[in-house]
Amino acid sequence: MSGPDLRRAAAEVAVGLVTPGMRLGIGTGSTANVFVELLGARVRAGLDVVGVPTSEATRVAAEAAGIRLATLEALPELDLTIDGADEIDDAMRLVKGGGGALLREKIVAFASHRMVVIADGAKRVATLGAFPLPIEVNAFGLGATRRGVAAALAACGCTGELVLRQSDGAPFVSDGGHHILDAHLGRIPDPDALSAALWAVPGVVEHGLFIGLATGAILAEARDGQAVVTRLGIV
Ligand code: A5P
Repeated sequence: MSGPDLRRAAAEVAVGLVTPGMRLGIGTGSTANVFVELLGARVRAGLDVVGVPTSEATRVAAEAAGIRLATLEALPELDLTIDGADEIDDAMRLVKGGGGALLREKIVAFASHRMVVIADGAKRVATLGAFPLPIEVNAFGLGATRRGVAAALAACGCTGELVLRQSDGAPFVSDGGHHILDAHLGRIPDPDALSAALWAVPGVVEHGLFIGLATGAILAEARDGQAVVTRLGIV
């Protein structure tokens, strides 16, 4: 029972939540990609839904799978978003953005009545922060924004390196045209306080703490060679 099997087990449960006519937010990452694949099979079998993708990568995958797509301009209210996560705690607070899509992911989750996380159960943690926290920043003023971010982290009791994410030897650029600072914190003692402190820094476009957005989670773990699915919250 490997990571891909667990991701598939979670995505299979999630695709069962989709009913005809739903307006869906469609997440980004390897787990969301399995959801796209399974949803595409249901669409080709006659299911009528419309989706809003959380990244250009997901848009391309969803189009290839035959899923009808819209924008949040045309469809500002969604019924359900299915997305992956990098970490989830018992209060269903998340760290997201390992794939760099955090800004669109958060906008889409906020527009949804329900957001259900699908993940390998290994993503469940007692304390957030072992996964580096992505902080999306405007390219203008990067040095000053970085200093502001460092001060916000320190004020919230967080220590660790801030690393400008790279891609092919150059700073990573998000779908929105921004850069990402990955904060290697180890642990985040107070995610709610850190969220507010980061938002207060000019130049921070968004951060990867998703608080009060996930309404449920589907987590798959290997037990005795089988995938065992745990549901948290409203699924
Ligand atoms: C994308 O920006 C992320 O938020 C992903 O949702 C997250 O990194 C989970 O990805 P995997 O499903 O590939 O682990």
